[in-house]
Amino acid sequence: MHPTLEQHHLDHLGALQRAYGDALAANGFDGVLLYSGHPHRHFGDDQHASFATYGHFQHWVPLQGLAHSWLLVRPGQRPRLQLHAPEDFWHLGTTLPEEAWVETLAIERVTTDTPPRLPAGRFAVLGEVDDETARALGAELNPAALTQALDEGRVRKSAYEIACLREANRCAGLGHRAARDAFFDGGAELDIQLAYLGASRQRESDLPYQNIVGVNRHAAVLHYQHYDVVPAADHHGLLVDAGHRYRGYAADITRTWAGGDASDVFAGLIEGVTSLQRGLIDAMAPGVDYPDLHGRMHQALGTLLGELGLTRCSAAAAVDQGITRAFCPHGLGHLLGLQVHDVGGRTSAEGAPLPPPAEHPALRLTRPLEAGMVVTMEPGCYVIPMLLNPLRQSPAGQDVDWCVVDALAPHGGVRIEDNVLVTEQGAENLTPVI
Ligand code: GLY
Ligand code: MN
Ligand code: MN
Repeated sequence: MHPTLEQHHLDHLGALQRAYGDALAANGFDGVLLYSGHPHRHFGDDQHASFATYGHFQHWVPLQGLAHSWLLVRPGQRPRLQLHAPEDFWHLGTTLPEEAWVETLAIERVTTDTPPRLPAGRFAVLGEVDDETARALGAELNPAALTQALDEGRVRKSAYEIACLREANRCAGLGHRAARDAFFDGGAELDIQLAYLGASRQRESDLPYQNIVGVNRHAAVLHYQHYDVVPAADHHGLLVDAGHRYRGYAADITRTWAGGDASDVFAGLIEGVTSLQRGLIDAMAPGVDYPDLHGRMHQALGTLLGELGLTRCSAAAAVDQGITRAFCPHGLGHLLGLQVHDVGGRTSAEGAPLPPPAEHPALRLTRPLEAGMVVTMEPGCYVIPMLLNPLRQSPAGQDVDWCVVDALAPHGGVRIEDNVLVTEQGAENLTPVI
């Protein structure tokens, strides 16, 4: 590990120890036991699904895929890691890296997956733990107020976390460039995905989410989940929404490219959404309300749809009549960290729920920006028949030029997504130029 990152990591753990002390005291606990989690076995089978470590455990322990392990955190005491290290000739044994953070924990290697015994006092246990185990521990299982306080501690990132998110972005950027090249070389969706994985140096099961590789109309399926093995006959466009994990921290980047069969409208849409996204990033600063930025995205989209000839009404009318929502039904973005959709996005710092506005139910970040947050900025515009067909039948449909929409449909859609740090002065884009 780079010496600076190592020092940042130690500072991060020191700050975490203090923050946990405060959160435990405020909630009347003597300590908390964090469970890393475990992979799930397929029903009637002896094979397991892939596994992501519980975020609050990984906030402390940067090892990906460490299962059946427990971390006991108490104010003013060295955290105790019970490391699951079974004697097993089927698998490679659990090893720890030679990194300074290892020395900050009291580590006990055990062969059992049962939790450690707790000292006397009032304890919480957090993670995917069943009621019976929590009862046997004598601990309160996932208490809401403590969980919220710890979630809040993940909203603003430390220097260590920002460095990890930056590195995850750098690696994902390498993948995106290779994906683009595989598309222009005539590759099928699966070839593009394999090129991405190869260049970003990550196996599929370690990704923070399943990469979306959508050629042509598949780009309009927001969470498109397949990889065609045969190259498409037409070459309208490619949307890649693909990430990377570095020490648990996620990148979440989307790019869209026009293929050789793309229309001018589609090329204009890519350019327009890209410049719209840059304008929104320029507007980011502490205190700016994220839902307001989401509203600005819809206004700008209303203008862009008019400029490209998709609509024949004002931007305001396109927004008011729900036309822009039919072209972009998802939120502008979300918090990013140990989870791709990170915790704390819909809760105030004090723990009050902040639900999304009724007309924007998919918005995952409903609070003002603060320095240290890392958020995605991901405006999009798609031809989604399920949303556009009702619009076509409605009075507002008169304001849409359906010939232009139908000609755009084979291209699927556009999304441009970057990962942006809110700074004291404004914002810094962590995503490299791709
Ligand atoms: N890749 C999932 C998202 O952009 O939110
Ligand atoms: Mn995203
Ligand atoms: Mn994404």
